[in-house]
Amino acid sequence: MTPAPYSPARFLFGGDYSPEQWPREVWREDIELMKRAKVNTATIGVFSWAMLEPREGEFDPAWLDEVIDRLASDGIGFILATPTASPPPWFTVAHPDALPVRPDGTRVLHGSRDTYAVSAPAYRAAARRIARYLADRYGHHDMLRGWHIHNEYGTIDHGPHAARAFRRWLERRYGTVDELNRVWYTAFWSQRYGAWDEILPPVQTQYLHNPAHVVDFKRFCSDEMLEAYREQRDEVRASGSRAPITTNFMLPTWNHLDQWTWSDEQDVVSIDHYLDTTSADGEAHVAYGADLTRSWAGGPWLLMEQNATGIRTGDHVVTKGVDRMIRNSLGYIARGSQSALFFQWRASAAGSELWHGAMVPHAGPDTRAFDGIVRLGDTLDRIAEVATAPADGVLGDAEIAIVWDAEGWWSLETPHLPSDAVSYSDEVRSTHRAFWRSGYPVDFIRPGGAADRYKVIVVPALYAMTATTARWLEDFAESGGRLVVTFASGLADMDQRVVGGGYPGMLRGLLGIRGEQMFPLPPGETIELSDGSQAGVWSELLRVETASVVAEYASGPLRGCPAVTRRSVGSGSATYVSTKLTQHSLDAFLAEAAVDAGIEPTLAGAADAGIEAVRRRGAEADYLFILNHSEAAVRIAGDGVDLVSGQRDRIEIDAGAVAVIREAGQGWALEA
Ligand code: GAL
Repeated sequence: MTPAPYSPARFLFGGDYSPEQWPREVWREDIELMKRAKVNTATIGVFSWAMLEPREGEFDPAWLDEVIDRLASDGIGFILATPTASPPPWFTVAHPDALPVRPDGTRVLHGSRDTYAVSAPAYRAAARRIARYLADRYGHHDMLRGWHIHNEYGTIDHGPHAARAFRRWLERRYGTVDELNRVWYTAFWSQRYGAWDEILPPVQTQYLHNPAHVVDFKRFCSDEMLEAYREQRDEVRASGSRAPITTNFMLPTWNHLDQWTWSDEQDVVSIDHYLDTTSADGEAHVAYGADLTRSWAGGPWLLMEQNATGIRTGDHVVTKGVDRMIRNSLGYIARGSQSALFFQWRASAAGSELWHGAMVPHAGPDTRAFDGIVRLGDTLDRIAEVATAPADGVLGDAEIAIVWDAEGWWSLETPHLPSDAVSYSDEVRSTHRAFWRSGYPVDFIRPGGAADRYKVIVVPALYAMTATTARWLEDFAESGGRLVVTFASGLADMDQRVVGGGYPGMLRGLLGIRGEQMFPLPPGETIELSDGSQAGVWSELLRVETASVVAEYASGPLRGCPAVTRRSVGSGSATYVSTKLTQHSLDAFLAEAAVDAGIEPTLAGAADAGIEAVRRRGAEADYLFILNHSEAAVRIAGDGVDLVSGQRDRIEIDAGAVAVIREAGQGWALEA
């Protein structure tokens, strides 16, 4: 049975709240300010282990009782975290073996956070104990909105506990050392193992690691952390607490987890999302994070953290204006978030993150930033009805899907591929960005996922895949889908073994081509294709077998050879792009693929006008979100009411502002 979609009565609004940093007078002001901003949720306890369990096995919950009472008596709900991302100093002193070890053998000591060896039995036992303690004490509180297990799983340990657990994992996977030797191809470089005990995590080595070893360790780490999550989740469940359980993923560059598998184990999927660019591309980044998370979740999800006032660039913080903060928050919500939560409520006065943005800045509530938070609270109140999700939980109306696969990412990070300049997350992201720029809604899909609702599926740089995935792609094309596969895909199987006889071995028949040799390009070199596109990084010498040539290389070492090919497959087609198109060329190429497939953007002309239009399905109506990222007001006409401004049918949206329109019909048009 499909579980009901996560659908709170109102959007959760608030953020990480660590009152333990402040005296009681500040707690009083916090509650007043939360009420003023219509904050309804505080995430508490994320890093409070040392306060909650000051000595091993001795708990001091009085302060947390008081925090919860104060919040609850003013009608503010809470998400309770288990504090296991940051073991206290007493723990590491008592259990030095539970400290994580880096690949070079350095043991990391306490003094920061996230310092734990996830496979250490003492750590696991302590984590279960505190999770159960909290669940027994607070799990039945009627203002508890959810459980936030741990924080951003992702500390990787290479020490003895990890080695032992890795060997156990390998034994379960391969059964015998001989089988492992076969899969890992250890005949080369004298790597043959004689016993399980000889195997180490991929620690510092003299030269290149074995790719199969590296990818298996990534798989193991994801599984091992998942097991640690499950243990805490099960403790919470065993207490009888019925509040939804999640753990917050970190985007965009955290690649330690297989999010599809992890998502299946949560009641609601949540992420932390920090913009990685200050330019307009930040808005595309919001859409990317949100679309990925909605897809992992298969429905509504939670934005657990974002920054209220700043974007951290390489070496400094760029201020995020209030309009942008509101547009970004609604950008996540348009794509299925049931929350706008921040890190953190009040800016720390000292400590490691004292300069991180906050809902209440250092200067206090009499600020532009806090006024913005009040405005956001008011906006969320006006659009509250949108939070009720339709029973099937599906949001949006995407007809395009991009394949996302954590194992594909891990595989593309193995050493010494033809070009180290290919990045999985960049390829996936630029594919998404291209559709975002032309205003098409997009989902992500796991290999083998339900593909029937899509007209176009794009497979960016999926280096390793199973035969089942290849067949699934073939079925999609056979039954009328347009498949677009980009370079560096289908070269290897899941054991990181190249499929011989011509590239890309896993997809040769489907694509109707035979690649002979890679011609990676030096950094910065651009080549042209016969259709006017520009490309770089990668090119391939290939010949068509059952495909036809769509574009040739017009310059570079492969001038005159096929660059883009297309094969008719059943009632659909399979296109192969053998080089990395520049973003500009990729934008045009993918927009054309969408047009060819007869897909309409959400609102014609929106992209050119600098606005973003996203449709979110609700239980009773559809809602059209308009985010005006441009510097001019825009007007759209149609049939419906803007819940934010109250305007009907002809709706003007100021520069930088938002509209959330309850639609009476979908025929909206931009007015000149
Ligand atoms: C998140 C983390 C928070 C805080 C924030 C600052 O990744 O969960 O605790 O550190 O980053 O950007």
